[in-house]
Amino acid sequence: ERRAHPPVNKIHRQDQTDFAEQLRRQLPPPLAAFIDQVGRLAQETGVRAYLVGGFVRDMILLRENVDLDIVVDGDALALARAAARALDVKLVEHAEFRTATLMIDPYHIDMAGARRDYYAAPGTLPQVETATLEQDALRRDFSLNTLLLAINPDRFGQLLDPHHGLEDLIAGRIRVLHSLSFVEDPTRIFRAIRFQARFGFKLEAHTERLLRTALERNGLSELSGTRIWKEFSLIFQEKHPAEAVRHLFERGVLAALERQWVLTPGLEDHLERAEQIVAWFHQQHLERAADLNLLWWSVLTAPLPVERQRHLNERLELPENIARKTPATINHAQKLLRQLTEQPPSLLSHLARMLLGESTDTLLTTAVFAVQEENRRAIFLFLTELEQIKPYIDGNDLKKLGIAPGPLFSHILETIRDEKIDGAISSKVEELELADSLRQVKKPESV
Ligand code: CTP
Repeated sequence: ERRAHPPVNKIHRQDQTDFAEQLRRQLPPPLAAFIDQVGRLAQETGVRAYLVGGFVRDMILLRENVDLDIVVDGDALALARAAARALDVKLVEHAEFRTATLMIDPYHIDMAGARRDYYAAPGTLPQVETATLEQDALRRDFSLNTLLLAINPDRFGQLLDPHHGLEDLIAGRIRVLHSLSFVEDPTRIFRAIRFQARFGFKLEAHTERLLRTALERNGLSELSGTRIWKEFSLIFQEKHPAEAVRHLFERGVLAALERQWVLTPGLEDHLERAEQIVAWFHQQHLERAADLNLLWWSVLTAPLPVERQRHLNERLELPENIARKTPATINHAQKLLRQLTEQPPSLLSHLARMLLGESTDTLLTTAVFAVQEENRRAIFLFLTELEQIKPYIDGNDLKKLGIAPGPLFSHILETIRDEKIDGAISSKVEELELADSLRQVKKPESV
């Protein structure tokens, strides 16, 4: 199954306004207990509290999500303080916004009063003032993120849907709430596409037009590089980044950032392969860690001329390590692939020596670039097996054999490793014999 489609039938079958049972079932017990308490405290102090946003959306789609956002039609900070006291949990106050975060390890819950945003200028971060729940919902990106679930005990689990988000959620439709949405916050261009790829949804027709208009009017130019990079990074953490990136190309989002950036059939292959290789890598649970930002950025920008890569990296104000490592990752991967193709290693130990010391991202990027399956298999074999092969014996054993520590040590140990990789020896006794026979041999000039 390629993508998670919404369980539409399930949504239809249940009472569309009462989610009490589902809410209790889907929340981890500590969060369920917490929500009950906050609801009771809200009731006592005469305010109404609601779960809102991504959590509610995902609960209805039966997707796991433990990032809770609570909105209150009154003083959120006061309610958060009361909850922190009653439940003895850690509270972080953001006094200037009158919001707070409660920490119930490993979860954290954000609480805010209903607000209204003012954008001083397009692309800037909004300024805020208190508002009704309906206005609060109106400042959000898409209707499917505006659903509210009451947690006060008298109406626990009841849905409040001021902007008809449930209908869109059921239909698999991403719809903005007003026509300036993408202009006020152009990061929503990326968000729309990310949600589209994640849920397999469609952009509602008017929303699609507004997105394209915002792009044509140069909407991205209002955004800082850091904010754009954050959106890329969120896409790279998704399960299906290739799909999202394809949409970014189709809509002209990437061309708006760099004119020469186009989706060639070659790049399309790389994107597909990158997705498969990342999934494969995660299944292996190796000791190595990959930096998905570095991997995807290398794959995605490799076709651009170096000079355009540099220009783009500066425009996006890339984090220093990504800016530095991307060119090296692309270079190493291309070089390794040339070596693998032009001088295919005749022994597994030669393959291991070729790949040893390369970063995970370089190796995975090489596999992405590799058209020939045997080259990819060689890299996978190195990561899953060859790299793990080490001699049983170590320097202490060599000392016991009376061999003086020095450069000969590593020559002997590396030779043993190579022989082991090639299957020429397998036991500790054989390793000791080989070490013994190598003691006389001078280290060759070029190893
Ligand atoms: N939001 C918005 N505009 C943005 C970012 C966020 O309107 N540019 C709103 C959305 O309504 C969203 C909420 O703020 O539901 C919380 O933002 P975030 O945690 O980024 O979104 P989630 O919807 O929870 O997305 P994800 O599942 O990717 O965490």
